[in-house]
Amino acid sequence: MTDAAVKQVTFHVRRFEPGVDRAPHWESHAIPLTPGMTVLDGLWKLKELSAPSLAWRSSCRMGICGSCGMLINGRPRLACNTQISELGTDVVAVAPLPNFAIIKDLVPDLRPMFETHRELMPYLIRDDVAEQDDPTLEYWQSPHELEHYLQFSYCIKCGCCMAACPTVATDPQYAGPMPLGQAQRYNTDSRDGGFAERKEVLSGGSGPWRCHFAGECSQVCPKGVDPAKAIQLMKRELVSDLLRMRKRRDPAPVVQPPKGPRREEIPAAPPRTAGEA
Ligand code: SF4
Ligand code: SF4
Ligand code: FES
Repeated sequence: MTDAAVKQVTFHVRRFEPGVDRAPHWESHAIPLTPGMTVLDGLWKLKELSAPSLAWRSSCRMGICGSCGMLINGRPRLACNTQISELGTDVVAVAPLPNFAIIKDLVPDLRPMFETHRELMPYLIRDDVAEQDDPTLEYWQSPHELEHYLQFSYCIKCGCCMAACPTVATDPQYAGPMPLGQAQRYNTDSRDGGFAERKEVLSGGSGPWRCHFAGECSQVCPKGVDPAKAIQLMKRELVSDLLRMRKRRDPAPVVQPPKGPRREEIPAAPPRTAGEA
């Protein structure tokens, strides 16, 4: 094949180095497109040919590690999981995930997300501490119980949902879909007893009540997780918990029969005569 026959794809890349650049700017580079090329492959080619200092984060190249989330043609996606041919254009615009500070170029600072994730205790919490420290038996779980949380456990913590969430964009206090979804993943696990502890962390204004259920988080998730659903389930659980607590605090009063004349005390109506309506 001659050079002229090689199909080209143009990458528009948003670049920014805090402390060096005054503001983010865009660079354009054309690279040869090869069959099966992903956006991540394209970035490597770009680095090799014309942008050696370009920075991004990636590792597994197979949609598992969650590190290559970026904004690709306006939508949060995994670069390794996005075929350029599927974008339907020969122009690829790549920018860092919105709603995060930028470390450099396409590298977002995910630390706030992971700090909230950690605060919400994304692990099994149990009362039987001695058994947990030195287990003698497996924590048995039925396939039906597994189904309750299985899809939430597919989360790879890529942050794409956080980048798509309009509430995260406007309220820096909001915990966001990934940490909340993962808290609910453990709340829903039949082996876990940590709901009360996680509930305490959520008692401020950062919790699920800030979610407007717009659903963008679930739309963009590359692993088919539905964090918007997890958050609504969490709301339901918090309301049920509140109602249970109120019931314990204010038990329902014993209902007395209405006071009034006893049936035998009510005078009988006079008998009707012929012609009365
Ligand atoms: S829920 Fe989906 S989009 Fe959000 S962090 Fe997990 S895998 Fe990524
Ligand atoms: S459903 Fe809730 S968490 Fe998901 S994008 Fe909308 S506001 Fe954000
Ligand atoms: S490189 Fe691991 S998910 Fe993309």
